[in-house]
Amino acid sequence: MSATLSKLFAMLSKKRRKISEVDVMGKCVLVRCDFNIPLESEEKMLENPRIRQAVPTVKYLLKKKAKVVLLSHFSSGKSIAPLKEVLSSAFKKKVNFVPECIGEKVKKKIDEMEKGEILLLENVRIYKEEKENSLWFGKKLASLADIFINDAFSVSHRNHASLTKIPRFIPSAMGILMEREIKVLEKVKKNPKRPIVAIIGGAKVESKISVVNYFLRTADHVLLGGKIANMVLIVRRIAFNLPWPDTKIRKAVEKIEHTSPKLHLPVDVIASVDNTGERETRETAPAKVSEKEDIFDIGQETRRLYGDIISEAGTIIWAGPLGFSEKEVFAKGTKEVGAYVIENEKALKVVGGGDTGKAFQQFNLLHRMDLISYGGGAMLTYISGGKMPGIEALGK
Ligand code: 3PG
Repeated sequence: MSATLSKLFAMLSKKRRKISEVDVMGKCVLVRCDFNIPLESEEKMLENPRIRQAVPTVKYLLKKKAKVVLLSHFSSGKSIAPLKEVLSSAFKKKVNFVPECIGEKVKKKIDEMEKGEILLLENVRIYKEEKENSLWFGKKLASLADIFINDAFSVSHRNHASLTKIPRFIPSAMGILMEREIKVLEKVKKNPKRPIVAIIGGAKVESKISVVNYFLRTADHVLLGGKIANMVLIVRRIAFNLPWPDTKIRKAVEKIEHTSPKLHLPVDVIASVDNTGERETRETAPAKVSEKEDIFDIGQETRRLYGDIISEAGTIIWAGPLGFSEKEVFAKGTKEVGAYVIENEKALKVVGGGDTGKAFQQFNLLHRMDLISYGGGAMLTYISGGKMPGIEALGK
């Protein structure tokens, strides 16, 4: 098919353009990545799946002799500078760094780059205009490059300038990682084998609450863990000793269809006074958690109950660890329920979220999954048909 015909086909089928459909040869290409990982030792950061997943797009662009300019948010607003060495090891190519994202200094650095070189820009969220979705900021970013590639599926549920405004000014397309994630998620959306089991946990409650009702309508079972389970236990006054969540979260949690027989909550939990994993922990019923404690994992009986449901599943969609799995003492829920998931060989298994991916890698479960999507909120939003502004903004 000629280039013009394939462009026309893409437009008619409403499909977003792929990286292979834009001419990047020798061009300056701005790539939006998701390097939002915790700031740890270089070695640990290099092991983070989010770093490895960025390699195919960057390698593709290097082969095409493009100037590769990388842009991402990072670890709760810190400087992204420590990633320079980590990325150099991952791409097996020196990565240069400039501590800004826009302006003359950045432009000069890019002008001085040779084709086939890589430059990392500063954490994009140090600019308030990013989250404000400022058109001005998007235009400034776009002025740095000829082409924009979005390879950050995991943050594309956000309405932020580096995702939605850059494509207004320069040609844009999806990166290789984004293309791959969408392909498998489409399979889950269109042809899910029943029973469908959704497992929802993790620390980010807000981006997940809205999808719980979607899964209560469309899936056969919804198993809750992590912070979202804690919030439901509190709002339903089961864990009545724990502090009341803020109004926004409470209102959102109240909207969950609590009477649905498909909704499963922890019947026992691991409680402790803090999350260090160094203080005493105990397994107890949610109602018996004292006001001095908090809940950091699901208990043994819950793991068994969840395991029974998972063993019958045809499709398993999992976003968010079931406990504070960074600490060994709070990792049993994620680890054991993960083992039930891989034991079910016939099910299509999809896992989403940076922390979930990391936990699965740590427990050696990752290679047994059909898809690992590195954004939990984004994956759930996509499957449930919610808005993905970062994808919608891309060129067709
Ligand atoms: C993630 O870590 O899930 C993505 O990078 C999105 O991050 P955010 O929730 O801070 O937007």
